Amino acid sequence: MPTVLITGANRGLGLELARQYAADGWRVLACSRHPDAEALDAIEQEHGDVSRHALEVTDAASIAALASSLHGTAVDVLLNVAGVMHRRAVATEGSARAAFGGFDYDDWTRVLAVNVLAPVRVAEAFLEHVAASDQRKIVTLSSELGSIGANETGGLYAYRSSKAAVNAVMKSMAIDLAPRGIIAVPMHPGWVRTDMGGPKAPLSAEESASGMRRVIAGLTLDDSGRFLQYDGEELPW
Ligand SMILES: NC(=O)c1ccc[n+]([C@@H]2O[C@H](COP(=O)([O-])OP(=O)(O)OC[C@H]3O[C@@H](n4cnc5c(N)ncnc54)[C@H](OP(=O)(O)O)[C@@H]3O)[C@@H](O)[C@H]2O)c1
Repeated sequence: MPTVLITGANRGLGLELARQYAADGWRVLACSRHPDAEALDAIEQEHGDVSRHALEVTDAASIAALASSLHGTAVDVLLNVAGVMHRRAVATEGSARAAFGGFDYDDWTRVLAVNVLAPVRVAEAFLEHVAASDQRKIVTLSSELGSIGANETGGLYAYRSSKAAVNAVMKSMAIDLAPRGIIAVPMHPGWVRTDMGGPKAPLSAEESASGMRRVIAGLTLDDSGRFLQYDGEELPW
């Protein structure tokens, strides 16, 4: 069976994607900062081929150690799921800290580290693992909030800029890796009820993950570099 490597697999969309791929018989490399997370116990007990790996995606040494420990493992689908919207300032001081005139630039820098630099670093570290697989797909969870064309409400500077940047990165990756037959796609999961999406989101993690899995399963080199959402619709840059 194919192998999927998922970052941020301990909760939210990463956890649900891990659950669904495992239930489908895939070998799942569930990577997170909390490999001992209880939520992963159930998946491991219910389904056979799930292994847990420690991964802090902003730590180059952590990524390199994981890539080296998985040396020789072909990864069919590399799924960059780990992401953040904003961190301590907004949580402790309210949304004004994410609005014009009140930015916390340290926070913004961290958002860029997690949402932009980390997916690239993970892709670089696992390039040979992906190249050695049958499916050769790299998918990074982006957001429609990263679409410049669809931005009609402003705000969310850190998150929007990070997802716009990761879209640019995935587009370049698609072009650069095409000669090796590797497909690279930024994907919007929809607005989903997770810790990040909140309780008012229209989609369950189950719906979003099953839609994304369907789209990922159908990806060909012709799709590489397209900005797709969970139901296959193409989004404007
Ligand atoms: N939910 C939505 O509506 C929505 C919409 C558009 C896009 N997205 C994108 O979809 C992805 C998943 O979102 P979600 O809703 O599942 O979010 P979530 O419930 O907040 O989960 C975020 C995940 O990212 C992990 N993570 C954050 N920083 C990390 C780091 N430095 N190293 C390793 N893991 C880290 C978290 O791990 P910890 O538990 O260790 O913090 C957690 O597993 C994100 O990229 C997000 O931007 C979500």
